Amino acid sequence: MCGIVGYIGHRQAYPVVIKGLKRLEYRGYDSAGVALLNHGLKVYKKKGKVADLEDSVVGLDLGGQVGIGHTRWATHGEPSDRNAHPHYSASGQLAMIHNGIIENYAQIKEELQHKGYTFKSDTDTEVLLNFIEEIRNNNECSLEEALRIALRRIVGAYCILLVDAADPDTILAARKGSPLVIGIGKGEHFLASDASPIIEYTKEVVYVNDYQIAIVRADELILKNLGNEKQTPFITRLDMELAAIEKGGYEHFMLKEIHEQPQTIFDCLRGRLLPESGMITMGGVENHLESLIHAPRIIIVACGTSWHAGLVAEYLIEELCRIPVEVEYASEFRYRNPIIHPGDVIIAISQSGETADTLVALENAKEKGAFIFGVVNAVGSSIARLSHAGAYTHSGPEIGVASTKAFTGQLAVLTMMALKMARAKGTVSDERYRTLLHELHAVPEKVAAILKDTASIKAIAEKYKDASDFLFLGRGYNFPVALEGALKLKEISYIHAEGYPAAEMKHGPIALVDEKLPVVFVATRDRFYEKIVSNVQEIKARKGRIICIASEGDSTIPSMADDVIFVPDADELVGPMLSVVPLQLLSYYAGLAKGYDVDKPRNLAKSVTVE
Ligand code: M6R
Repeated sequence: MCGIVGYIGHRQAYPVVIKGLKRLEYRGYDSAGVALLNHGLKVYKKKGKVADLEDSVVGLDLGGQVGIGHTRWATHGEPSDRNAHPHYSASGQLAMIHNGIIENYAQIKEELQHKGYTFKSDTDTEVLLNFIEEIRNNNECSLEEALRIALRRIVGAYCILLVDAADPDTILAARKGSPLVIGIGKGEHFLASDASPIIEYTKEVVYVNDYQIAIVRADELILKNLGNEKQTPFITRLDMELAAIEKGGYEHFMLKEIHEQPQTIFDCLRGRLLPESGMITMGGVENHLESLIHAPRIIIVACGTSWHAGLVAEYLIEELCRIPVEVEYASEFRYRNPIIHPGDVIIAISQSGETADTLVALENAKEKGAFIFGVVNAVGSSIARLSHAGAYTHSGPEIGVASTKAFTGQLAVLTMMALKMARAKGTVSDERYRTLLHELHAVPEKVAAILKDTASIKAIAEKYKDASDFLFLGRGYNFPVALEGALKLKEISYIHAEGYPAAEMKHGPIALVDEKLPVVFVATRDRFYEKIVSNVQEIKARKGRIICIASEGDSTIPSMADDVIFVPDADELVGPMLSVVPLQLLSYYAGLAKGYDVDKPRNLAKSVTVE
């Protein structure tokens, strides 16, 4: 949530900051702003997207070699010019941007109000900024010291960048719970919420840790803890190319990312899955194999699409490894004082590796002694670093707010993991193991086949785009796919959609079915095939409009459906990686047909770093 960019060096800051904000716009896009140190401190901000901010500053003097910028996802206060960041302090000498939530801001605000402060915005950020200024004035200390004192008082999460008109050669930064990366150039530094605004200038970066303050100058980077002790910056080399964060000829990132899946799944399997020699090589799993296979219980913690990947993993691990699995919404798990037994393993699934609910749930579980295995896409992210061990999905940067390629990457990792564990535990036969290795190996090619011709999916999306509700139904491994299809449709086309296990219909939801309701069945050939044929009949008998994802060569399901999308035949354990692809496209084309911004759907943000 919220994108943060900063620049200090020999270039003009404004173009660097604006370009960076566009790269980070996926993190929030209800307002944007910049502060420039240019013969004094100047703040420009605007409700709307970064492009609206650009339009609003045409013709103004935007010089200066130091700047900070912000793209916002509103928490405290509606999206508006006055709530947009950066905020000025009461004196007008300081400006600050912030990603996160200051939980005790109301109490601090009251203290400040008693001292005569008034506020121009509804934000917690302005409260923190004035608190810092008040401490500086009261203690007659440096801004750095005032920042340290303030951060020790506040409760919540933050990544902040702070500039002072009186010290135009410094940006102060700090983080707790919200990411911050600093790129190191020659005589210049770049600051950002993730590496995407930095990659075209430098590949050398430092990931700032929680409770660290960074004092950033053109040719100097100092890291300190909140106790004012210097800490050595650990420089990492980015393994990412600029092309990975550009649209590459596609109209939208979402479409590009859907089409990347044959390659991203292949990249995820590459070097790990060796079907000819019957091996799966995964360092993170191998090093902790005993803890994993002897775990009395595995708890999967995730949110949103990643939670759906967790449901598929539950089926996989229980079936192949015979270990009980629970799949938890991170937001619930973190607050209900969960019981964690010695030996329990937690698998955390997250594309961004920064989701606040997941992160805090893991911190709590880690404190209780749980072993944490991370299945993460973003390299070096907070969840990756907090985990004891893990496996990256190697899906590359996912920029569209809807998670697509990250989901199939998660499934690929989790399937390999379950197979490797089952092999070591002896709970899968040789023959089944080898069959599944080959099935997994064939997935990228089968996904490519689905993507060869998407015209019929586009036509179906256009046909049903005006429906007010949708149901998505599946059984077994296709039940989580149905949930994922419903989530995708909701977030991209704003059509109300629900996912259910197909057999649950008769317990209530079937009352919704009439001749206007589109019902999407994920009805590929698997062990539930006969059962789902009956479920389709039940909907047909009530005149629902039936759209089916069916296996190539099937004629029974198509004979009952109004519309069919075929996917290649596959073993049901790897089937979700195929059957989800048409559902991703269905939501993409429905959103497009309705004229929505599919990469930046309303009210959402890519990386949910607030609870
Ligand atoms: O980065 P994470 O995987 O932890 O994110 C979890 C959810 O916020 C995310 O999957 C969300 O549901 C997506 N927008 C769905 O497309």
